[in-house]
Formats: sequence, C-alpha cells, structure tokens
Amino acid sequence: MAAGYLETAVDIAREAGALLANLFERRIGYELKGDFDLVTEADKASEKLIVERLRTHFPSHSIVAEEGGGHETGGEFRWYVDPLDGTTNFAHGYPMFNTTLALERNGELIAGVVFEPVRGEMFAAELGGGAYLNNKRMHVSKAARLADSLLITGFPSFKRHKSVNVHFFHQVAMATHGVRRSGSAALDLAYVAAGRADGFWEFGLNPWDMAAGVLLVEEAGGRSTDMKGEPRGMRGPHLLATNNAIHAETLGLFGEVFTGQYRVPMQTINPA
Ligand code: IPD
Ligand code: CA
Ligand code: CA
Repeated sequence: MAAGYLETAVDIAREAGALLANLFERRIGYELKGDFDLVTEADKASEKLIVERLRTHFPSHSIVAEEGGGHETGGEFRWYVDPLDGTTNFAHGYPMFNTTLALERNGELIAGVVFEPVRGEMFAAELGGGAYLNNKRMHVSKAARLADSLLITGFPSFKRHKSVNVHFFHQVAMATHGVRRSGSAALDLAYVAAGRADGFWEFGLNPWDMAAGVLLVEEAGGRSTDMKGEPRGMRGPHLLATNNAIHAETLGLFGEVFTGQYRVPMQTINPA
C-alpha cells in the first residue's frame, strides 16, 4: 500500500502509548461519562496527540475519535481512533489497555494498529499485506473445535444492564476451555490474530473499538462476521471474529442462544 499510512499509524500509536504508560504509572483519577462509563485525562491527552498528528500528516482525511476530537472532511479516507481502549482497567491500575487507530478508504479498512505499551506489543496490519506483531508475521490459531478453544468476550460500558451477553457467556464457557473478559476489545481482537485465543465476540462495539482488530484478524487468516453470520458492519449490533476454523460451529451455538435454546441450563440459586 502506498503513502506510508501504516508506518505513520505505527509511529503515532507508539507515541500515544508512551504517553499512556507514563500516566498509568502516576495513577491518575477518573470521571464518569455515564453511570459506569469512565473517562480519564489520559483518554483526552492521547486523543489530542493522535488527532494532531493525523491532521498534520493527512489534512484531507476525516477522523472519527471516541472522545469527540475528530472532524469530517468529506474525503475518501477516514481514521477511527480509540485513544485509550480499556479505560476501566487503566483507571483501576489493571495493566490491560491499548491505543488503536485504523484507516478506511471508501468504506474499506486498509490499515490498522493496536499498541499495548505495558508489554511493548505493536500489532499492525494492512489490507492484503498480512498481520504483524512487533514486525513478525502472526497467524490465527489452528483450533478446529469449540471444545479445544479459548474465547474472549466483553460487555458494553454503556447500558451494561441491558446486555444479553451473559447467556452467550454461559453457553460458550460450558462448550470450550473457557472465556476471558479482558476489558480491552481491540486487544482481544489482536490476541485472536496472534493465535493467543481462538475467537472473540461482543455486543454493541463502536467502530473505533473494532476497526483495527478486525483487519488484524482477517489479515492473520481469521474471519469476522456479526454473531448471526452476516457481513460485519462498523456499527453493527454485534461482532464475532475467530480463527475461521471454529466460526461455523460458534455461529451454530449462537443461533441456539438467540432462539432461547440452552444446551446447558443456567443454575438457579436456591438460598438455604
Ligand atoms: C471498552 C473496552 C471493553 C469493551 C467495551 C468498550 P473503552 O472500550 O474495549 O473491553 O467491553 O465495549 O467500550 O471504553 O475502554 O475505550
Ligand atoms: Ca474502546
Ligand atoms: Ca476509549
């Protein structure tokens, strides 16, 4: 791909990641933007840095950034920016967060980066060019059955009480080696791309949470759709991204849960 978009995104993510790591050490406080939706000075400072750099390098590109610092130019290129993905973890001193940005051209994702500064891991991909972890080619796992798989999920910060995901969580947990909930969706997708987990699903993601991660998974040999097997949309209601090998089986299990058929009933609590 021409124009060095990915290289520039990598440089910007590294700079923003260093800023986040520095603030993380200082254990700064947080504010609430909803009942349980946290935001910190780090989200804002990281977004300011990323947006400034993107505007300098690519003045004609639109920017969609979570904390609202973006702008629309009407051009063919659009960046999605999550300046700090995993804010709740960050605010609690739990070292699982990242900064992520992705570039779309005429509606197609062409480059994506997820940088996790605590381990110093840079996940990067461009359309047709493969996916890389610290410059080394990465591939999805080879697990072929849910019974041999580890999956990851998340729960939306916003309106968490309305999420039906606990039903999916239960059934997948019963059918696999387990389910992880890291609190950092872009990193979850990067881990699927790196073969550290076999699949990830979540309801209610925003485009900046998933844009870079889905490209990483696809370029690492995986597949992403919505949770009913339809093409994924950047504003779709839900996402499933897997190593491809377990995709159909996972969709089958989800189909059952969507129609209220539970393979393993949830235990009810009988207070003694
Ligand atoms: C959140 C994280 C979390 C996911 C939420 C996201 P934020 O992003 O990615 O893992 O479950 O849906 O909103 O708010 O920390 O950028
Ligand atoms: Ca996010
Ligand atoms: Ca965020």
